[in-house]
Amino acid sequence: MVPLALLESFDLKSLLLFLLAFLLVLDYLKNKPPLNFPPGPIAIPFLGSIFNVNFKEPHINLTKLGKTYNNIFSMQMGRQKSVFLTGYKMVKEALVNQAENFADRPYSPLAVRLYASNGGLFSSNGEMWKKQRRFALSTLRNFGLGKKTMELAICEESRFLQDEMDRQKGEAFDPTTLFNNAVSNIICQLVFGQRFDYNDHDFQMMLKYISEALQLEGSMWGWLYESYPAIMKYLPGRHNVLFRNYEFVSKFIRKNLDKHKADLDPSNPRCYMDSFLIEKENSHDPAEGFTEENLVWCTLDLFIAGTETTSTTLRWALLFLNKHPEIQDKVQEEIDRVIGQTRQPCMADRPNLPYTEAVLHEILRRGDIVPLNGARMAVKDTTLGGYFIPKGTTLMPILHSVLFDENEWETPNSFNPEHFLDKDGKFVRRDAFLPFSAGKRVCLGEQLARMELFLFFISLFQKFHFSTVEGTQLSTEGIVGITLTPQPFKICAKAR
Ligand code: HEM
Repeated sequence: MVPLALLESFDLKSLLLFLLAFLLVLDYLKNKPPLNFPPGPIAIPFLGSIFNVNFKEPHINLTKLGKTYNNIFSMQMGRQKSVFLTGYKMVKEALVNQAENFADRPYSPLAVRLYASNGGLFSSNGEMWKKQRRFALSTLRNFGLGKKTMELAICEESRFLQDEMDRQKGEAFDPTTLFNNAVSNIICQLVFGQRFDYNDHDFQMMLKYISEALQLEGSMWGWLYESYPAIMKYLPGRHNVLFRNYEFVSKFIRKNLDKHKADLDPSNPRCYMDSFLIEKENSHDPAEGFTEENLVWCTLDLFIAGTETTSTTLRWALLFLNKHPEIQDKVQEEIDRVIGQTRQPCMADRPNLPYTEAVLHEILRRGDIVPLNGARMAVKDTTLGGYFIPKGTTLMPILHSVLFDENEWETPNSFNPEHFLDKDGKFVRRDAFLPFSAGKRVCLGEQLARMELFLFFISLFQKFHFSTVEGTQLSTEGIVGITLTPQPFKICAKAR
């Protein structure tokens, strides 16, 4: 006779086994890829492929996977299958040749929690995104891009930056905060019509919180939240810091919005915020997104997208020109010859500074500022690289794989301004130079970022010689978040 306890345990075991088999079949059926979907690494049942990502250097890890799968592969990330694209040709095929098909952003649990629904400039889709992108671009143009106003504002900010560097008296200092202050003040001029003092407490906190949030968003915490939001929502962890930080920045923006509402003069808009409030009165269709809530989100996006990126590029500039003193010397020789040491640089100097222009391009390429790019979504069923991509599929066109593509760049891993110079020393454009991405969602602030980088960079190297404390070696290994930032470092700025 079989003892009752044994029978009961056998039954329980069978039940559990049956349940497990049932869930495995369910998981398989739910995640079964459609016919001719891009292949990819094997996924673990219930957990997907997230363990195939090396969170210390996902951009390098995903680029390597791309080589195994002929530049297009898929991975199960939580509840959704994502397709990863690598190499200039494949990324261009999706973003440029099929621009309309991949113009949308995918569903993002992070964005939904931040923006409540369709909102902001980065994550919105459809009519709202089109309307808001067009409005932001035209307002940026009205407030100085392409006119002298913006150029003058950047030159004025350069002087504040130079004064702060002068105050260091040639001693080693970390340039991160100073660059964040200067660059963010340009966004402040655009959206609020004013700059903030470098000692303003709320301004400083906002910058600190944005940097930290961007780091977390691109870290394992961001990926875990995007992949398993239903669980992560209730778990402790660094992802909670991310939401707290953005809440603080939103409050800072709301405080400024209240001031603008109080002294708005509809006949004399001073900035993006004023123009938005005026447009809000004229727009009667909520789908266009001219609401106060959406104004806060769009402003938040301009700060998030426009501060850390540009400021990080300037830090890479100091780092690379320190590692290559001969390049710093050549840049300064060209600046001295074309502009001299006293006149402030202006945008009209650009065509006369081919070597400096090549160095700036190489900083953006080798600095690899947004290594993974923004995610896209297929707007309709389409074919890419011979594979079927159903409507709604998430796409990750990896920018690192383009900026370091061995088929496009002679020495992809070196810092080499010659990539952008011909044999006569003239500046040459390169097709695979896509640090701002491409297509319908190409960086909205590209023109502004290029103007800032040019004017800040030249005014710094015109005035100072940068070096490290003797015996210090700077690392060119970056820290990955949404942006790729250099390891913290200290630099000495000696007046020339
Ligand atoms: C060196 C500086 C910068 C770099 C490398 C950079 C790079 C990028 C990249 C790679 C994207 C994603 C594009 C895509 O999904 O295909 C993007 C989007 C965006 N950037 Fe920038 N960016 C920079 C500066 C700025 C500045 C200064 C602003 C603000 C004026 C800005 C505003 C935006 C916005 C609003 C988007 C979202 C566009 C959309 O979805 O329609 N960026 N940027």
